[in-house]
Amino acid sequence: MSPEADPAAVFEEGLARVSAQYRAVFAEAADEHALRAAGARFVGPQGELTRLMKLMPKVAPDRRRELGQKANAVKREVQQSLDGALLALERAQREADLSEPAIDVSLPGRGPVPGRLHPITRVTHDLLDVFGALGFDVADGPEVDLYEYNFDKLGFPPDHPATDMQDSFFVRTSDTRTLLRTHTSTIQVRAMLKHPPPLAIVSPGAVYRRDDDITHSPMFFQFEGLLVDEGVSFAHLRGVLTRFAQRMFGPDVGIRIRPSYFPFVEPGGEMDIACVFCRAWEGERARIAACRLCKGTGWLEILGCGMVHPVVFENVGYDPERYTGFAFGMGVDRVAMLKYGINDIRLLYENDVRFLGQL
Ligand code: FA5
Repeated sequence: MSPEADPAAVFEEGLARVSAQYRAVFAEAADEHALRAAGARFVGPQGELTRLMKLMPKVAPDRRRELGQKANAVKREVQQSLDGALLALERAQREADLSEPAIDVSLPGRGPVPGRLHPITRVTHDLLDVFGALGFDVADGPEVDLYEYNFDKLGFPPDHPATDMQDSFFVRTSDTRTLLRTHTSTIQVRAMLKHPPPLAIVSPGAVYRRDDDITHSPMFFQFEGLLVDEGVSFAHLRGVLTRFAQRMFGPDVGIRIRPSYFPFVEPGGEMDIACVFCRAWEGERARIAACRLCKGTGWLEILGCGMVHPVVFENVGYDPERYTGFAFGMGVDRVAMLKYGINDIRLLYENDVRFLGQL
């Protein structure tokens, strides 16, 4: 504004300019962004009308009221026009969207995600291959089984902790007691009651216990083995288990069989595999000591085994003087954990496909 210009005149000119321009400017805006920018040019914080209002203190007091009212009227007009144009744009966009085909055939399709077998199923298949090649048949049995087959016939004394209500899931406690089998050794009993010796069977299946931590699940899978014939010894058992470990984990795998107690075998043992998480065989003491999975021992227990107890043979009608046999029961989950490097058994049961898809 030149020093001699009358502020009231400048104000009025400005208002007239805005009034004359805004419609054409709005009409030119092609989209919402351009329209909002055009609106800001007139009514935004840096817009022309805001700038004019800053002149007001310089306008002669007797003109202020009249010019203020005029400015407000222009501002309202511009704002209404802007709102109307925005609404029209939005409607036009909606119309355009609705008039397009409902399905965008140009988008890439979502194909079916191919499924795959669960790691426990895969390990079970591998175990069946290994033992099938060694001549074992496959036997099956129910998951809800007789207390008698789960405990009595296997020589469990009535006060054994496993028979306790706190350790097993009982289904019926009166008359004929039934429970969710706590191990697949029930199938040993069933197979021997059904078939005379010689016998060589394996049987995979789900079992249930009141257990729950990173290496124990309340429902897990076992794989039972039983071989009965004349002249069977612990050396046969060790040979079969060594072959199994080498086929599953490679020819150099570390194994050990420790003496252990199960009522239905004598002598009994537990077989451990060297822990693949802390790579115990490399001997790095700090890493082994810190390992949560093997709890610093360097070994992970995978199965119980032993020579079938003569009492079991008597209970199923086999002649214990003539026949000997070995049995083993392994945790399929533990084998899967070692094979696929899984450090928490619960991951196997959460069914998270992002996890399962990596195995
Ligand atoms: C038994 O269940 C015996 N029936 C095994 C057996 C069979 C011994 C034949 C002798 C002759 P045990 O309770 O130790 O034994 O379990 C066998 C294996 O199952 C264990 O070595 C372990 O690998 C696995 N296991 C046991 N409890 C759990 C659990 N809660 N979650 C996952 N795996 C388990």
